Amino acid sequence: MKSCTQNTEDGKKVFIQTYGCQMNEYDTDKMFEVLRQENYFHTDSQEDADLIILNTCSIREKAEHKVYSELGRLRNLKSANPELKIGVGGCVAQQEGEAILRRDANVDFVFGTDNLFELPRMLRKVHNGEKITQTGRHDRQKVRNFIPEYAFQQISKSGIKAHLTITKGCNNHCSFCVVPLTRGLEVSREPEHIVAEAEKLVSTGTREICLLGQNVNSYKANGVDFVELLNRLDKIDGLQRLRFTSPHPKDFHEKLADAIASLPSLCEHLHLPLQSGSNRILRRMRRWYTIDTFYEKVAMLRDRLPKAAISTDLIVGFPGETDEEFEMTMEAVRNVGFDLIYSFKYSPRPGTRATEYPEHISESIKSERLRILLETQEKIVQEKYQVLVGTEQEVLIEGNHHRKANTVTGRTRGNHPVSIHNSTEKAGELLSVLITRANPNSLEAEPSSAISFAGI
Ligand code: 5AD
Ligand code: SF4
Repeated sequence: MKSCTQNTEDGKKVFIQTYGCQMNEYDTDKMFEVLRQENYFHTDSQEDADLIILNTCSIREKAEHKVYSELGRLRNLKSANPELKIGVGGCVAQQEGEAILRRDANVDFVFGTDNLFELPRMLRKVHNGEKITQTGRHDRQKVRNFIPEYAFQQISKSGIKAHLTITKGCNNHCSFCVVPLTRGLEVSREPEHIVAEAEKLVSTGTREICLLGQNVNSYKANGVDFVELLNRLDKIDGLQRLRFTSPHPKDFHEKLADAIASLPSLCEHLHLPLQSGSNRILRRMRRWYTIDTFYEKVAMLRDRLPKAAISTDLIVGFPGETDEEFEMTMEAVRNVGFDLIYSFKYSPRPGTRATEYPEHISESIKSERLRILLETQEKIVQEKYQVLVGTEQEVLIEGNHHRKANTVTGRTRGNHPVSIHNSTEKAGELLSVLITRANPNSLEAEPSSAISFAGI
């Protein structure tokens, strides 16, 4: 979503390319807000831009490669327009810093994940011909208060759905993961700032908010824990749906399961990243739970909400993963019956513990394991979707179908994508629908009756 879409004759134009996770999408929105103060306006065309920023991701090697090949492509633009400024932000920038400037002479500035609010100052220097690297960490208090000067008046982004970052960084050192190195130690934002930002979003049209954090359930600030924060957000008038991603299974407790079951806006959907079904691999991943405790957490939710949707992240081909251990992951996938899985081939990341582990798995075995996993999951999703046929679901409408007339699209509270025929309902409306058909990756439905908004 772009926050500064209008064009002006006087303003400069900025193009931001976002890679990776929702946290980066959120940061990109903040960059647009900061840059708008400097009279920069959004453009969708790189050719048109005075400033191009790549907001990078380093979670897996592939994501990092994309950044360098994009920089290669931008060379032509820079030679056609020497006034063009190119900046690299995000996780690759945080980790690589100045090395990016050395590697590509066309890059003007590099800034880390805590430095996006310093963009105006950096740009002034860049326009004076300086090359800048700014990857220092803010002190904890500053991060805790992050965006104070922008939080209240500047949020113009008003999508039906919005992300809202509640914690930055991570204190878990999963052996495969680069996030603690790029985003630093965990800091929770002030609850008052989070609630104010959520209220502002709702007042400008947002109906669904997804709270973001590497480990949301360890949120704690000013004596407010995650469940208390959810309680406060749930009270916001006009906020129809609240979601969060991701909780760490080791920190998922009864209190949170109770909140999902009882808070009206909190959707009956949980993303609980399992990573592996083998206890030995989980230990080597430094995840601090076993498959049995994971099953207990799933049961904790399903005891309260038997139909709750559960999604997960899985890694195949972690160093030393045997065929039997991969089969344990497959068994977990069959046992839990996830509504959605995000599955990844293990990718060694510089500076992480697992890169030092022996017995790295060949690319061909990783690909084969991923193929088997995806094939099985496809069947599970088909069965899950089939069960939904004939049921009534509440859908938040996101817009018109991109091809079909008289058809709108949206998501159920379980986050399943649905196309609704014979409806011209507007984006942002809640609609009660009857599911009529299950496709491989989506559901089809007809409207049953409109549910009216309370308080809007
Ligand atoms: N290799 C593969 N997948 C990874 N993830 C994180 N680091 C790696 C890595 N080095 C996956 C995990 C995490 C998700 C966001 O990305 O499954 O939950
Ligand atoms: Fe990475 Fe683990 Fe932290 Fe998630 S919990 S961000 S996988 S270190």
